[in-house]
Amino acid sequence: MPAQLIGIDALSFAGPDAYLALRDLATARGVDPAKFTVGLGQHGMAIASPCEDPVTMAVAAGRKALSGFDIDPEQIGTLIVGTETGIDHSKPVAVYAHELLGLSQHCRTFETKHACYGAMAGLTASMDWIGCGRARGRKALVIASDIASYGLNTPGEPTQGAGAVAMVVSDAPRLLTIDPDYIGDYTRQVMDFWRPLYSKYAVADGHYSIECYLDALVGALNDATSQHDHAQACPDPVACLYHIPFVRMAFKAHQRYVEHCSGQALNADHASGWQSLNDDYAQRVRPWLSLNAQIGNIYTGSLFLSLIDLLRQQAASMAGQPISLFSYGSGCGATYCIGRVADAAGQWTAQLDPADDLKRRRRLSIDEYEHLIEQNQTADQQTSLTPEEFGHRQGLYYVGTRDHQRQYRALG
Ligand code: HMG
Repeated sequence: MPAQLIGIDALSFAGPDAYLALRDLATARGVDPAKFTVGLGQHGMAIASPCEDPVTMAVAAGRKALSGFDIDPEQIGTLIVGTETGIDHSKPVAVYAHELLGLSQHCRTFETKHACYGAMAGLTASMDWIGCGRARGRKALVIASDIASYGLNTPGEPTQGAGAVAMVVSDAPRLLTIDPDYIGDYTRQVMDFWRPLYSKYAVADGHYSIECYLDALVGALNDATSQHDHAQACPDPVACLYHIPFVRMAFKAHQRYVEHCSGQALNADHASGWQSLNDDYAQRVRPWLSLNAQIGNIYTGSLFLSLIDLLRQQAASMAGQPISLFSYGSGCGATYCIGRVADAAGQWTAQLDPADDLKRRRRLSIDEYEHLIEQNQTADQQTSLTPEEFGHRQGLYYVGTRDHQRQYRALG
């Protein structure tokens, strides 16, 4: 029996109202700006205020995905929020989002956590839920929502960011089908990046985390292809999407991917191989990194932000073509899979594209940025926050915790 076509039916991004330009950060830290803009490939990072949290961003992205793609909230039978940035040891971000999005009480709702892997875990769990027949014609809403925080003056500081990506998963996907024959998983207990319960900031062994990521890519790729004979072992994607903690990581990942597929190690000393790697990267990877370069690491959503970038540019011309997606979460867990751009995807590019929202963002000075980072430390304990004080005019905001309960208020 041919496998059911399941995949992504709607997709949208929402993020903070302000950002920091990495050139400004470099100047403030006494670092050559090229280290951030070329060495890491980053130009900006979204910075959340104390009134923007994983709930407000998840709801904003969820609303856009539902209304932009004409999906009735009653059609959602599963809601999963993948996040590293939980706001409570017990209560999931997902149940706040469930209420604020007006979903049915018969919707199964939960949070997934595995660093940056939570949304891919949610996507594959949703596919299983639909594939086994339990969905009864309903769709799943999977939302990735995170604030990446390493703290001031740390090596991770230029690789922060914040934002949410919402995707609706269905058996009639308008954007991307996922091929069930090419999904591979990988798990290994490593201490590359983690965040103890007592800390707002992640602890990262940065260079080791890059090695863990690359090992996980090969591990997941091997699992995806191991059940096929050699001729089918490496489907040739027209675009390769990776988890993007910082843009330059995608080059390192693609190098490892090409080496794995060709069986040949590459480095700058081998002029022709290196040139063809750079050409391939310029064609299959780099064009889909422009949103990540402006927004920074949004942890669980960052792979799917790159997918938004691809679809907003090439959905029509890539209809029916295979693309690869690699999700990595520190700690570590990973999945590599192959998707195909849906035939009708080109009709939805206006709904996908966050360009207008990004143009409206406010550029922070270094003083404003440092002030926000300090205030974010105690936001959970504030009883009364005023979103207008942080320049917010429209949307849903966190306004403090009273009687140990988080409060939200809509503006505009
Ligand atoms: P660092 O030690 O400050 O930077 O940390 P560096 O010295 O390695 O330099 C970075 C690059 O800039 C290098 O390029 C330099 O050569 C280059 P590479 O050799 O790697 O190709 N460079 C320059 N280029 C041009 N002009 C210059 C210049 N100077 C240097 N003047 C690091 C960098 C990424 C380690 C740090 O920012 C960090 O710890 N970040 C956080 C951890 C991280 O992002 N890890 C990525 C893999 S793990 C992952 O993706 C999971 C994660 O998203 C979490 C989750 O799962 O939830 C993090």
